[in-house]
Amino acid sequence: MFKPSQSKWKVFLAFPTLLCVVLFPATASSAVDSTPSPSPSVSPTIEPAVSPSPSVSPSPTVSPSPSPSPTRDARFIGDFNHASSLQVVVNKQRRLSPVTYNPATIRYFTGTPISIDAYQPLKRMAAAMKAEGAGTLVLNSGYRSYATQVAIHNQKVAQLGQTAGERLAARPGHSEHQTGLAADVSATGQGCVIQVCFSSTKGGKWLAKNAHRFGFILRYQNGYTFYTGYQFEPWHFRYVATDVATDMFNRRFKVLERYRGLPAAPNY
Ligand code: DAL
Ligand code: ZN
Repeated sequence: MFKPSQSKWKVFLAFPTLLCVVLFPATASSAVDSTPSPSPSVSPTIEPAVSPSPSVSPSPTVSPSPSPSPTRDARFIGDFNHASSLQVVVNKQRRLSPVTYNPATIRYFTGTPISIDAYQPLKRMAAAMKAEGAGTLVLNSGYRSYATQVAIHNQKVAQLGQTAGERLAARPGHSEHQTGLAADVSATGQGCVIQVCFSSTKGGKWLAKNAHRFGFILRYQNGYTFYTGYQFEPWHFRYVATDVATDMFNRRFKVLERYRGLPAAPNY
C-alpha cells in the first residue's frame, strides 16, 4: 500500500490560471493524422461513459477507498482497455474501472507522486532536457486520486463554467492522471506554468519535440479539441512507452484515439 501525498493538488488549485487543472498497436489505424482540423483473457476495464451524464457518474455506493490493482506486466502490452495497462486509453467516453482505480506503486518526482512506470522515464527525460540546454523539469501534477480529481473538476467548473471547465479538467474516473501515467510539467524559471504559453518556452518546445524519445506523448495537442474534448495542454504528457510514442511521433499521429482506431470523444 502507499500513501500518496495529496498536498500537491492543493498547491495546484491555488493557481488561478493553472490547469489540467492530463509491439505497435494491434489495432492502430493506418491513417496518418498529419492534417489538423481547421480548428481546432483479461476482462476489459474501461466502461463506456454514461451519456448524457449530468454530473460525476459514480454512484454513492462506490467505495472511494482504493482497491488493489493488478500489476502492469506483459499481459497488458498493447491492451488499451485495462486500467493497469501502459496503453490504456482514458477519455470522456472511456471511464476507468474500477472508477476509483489507482496505480499499485508510486514514486515522487520533485515532490509529486507519479506511477512507478512513468517515474524512471520521467527522470531520464528531465536529465536529457537539462543536458540539452532546455531547462530543469518540474512535475506539477502526476498521479491524482479519484478524490483529488473530484476537487479539481469541481473547482474548474465553478471557476470557468461547465464547458470551459471540462475542457481542462476531466471528471473523476475519466482522467489519465488517475492512472499515474500523466505528467503536468513545467521548467524552472521559464514561467507559463500550466498555461498555453508553455508551448513557446524553451522547455515546452524541447518537450514537444523530444518527449517521445522517453515514451511520452503530448496528449492534448493544439487544434484537436473536437477529437479529445480538451483544450491545448502543452504541459500534459502521457507515458505510453517509447516504441508507441516514437511510432506516433514518426507517423505524425496527433491523437491517441486515432492511433488506436478509437472514435472521437469530445463529450461525455
Ligand atoms: N487536464 C486533464 C484533461 C485531466 O484533468 O485529466
Ligand atoms: Zn494533465
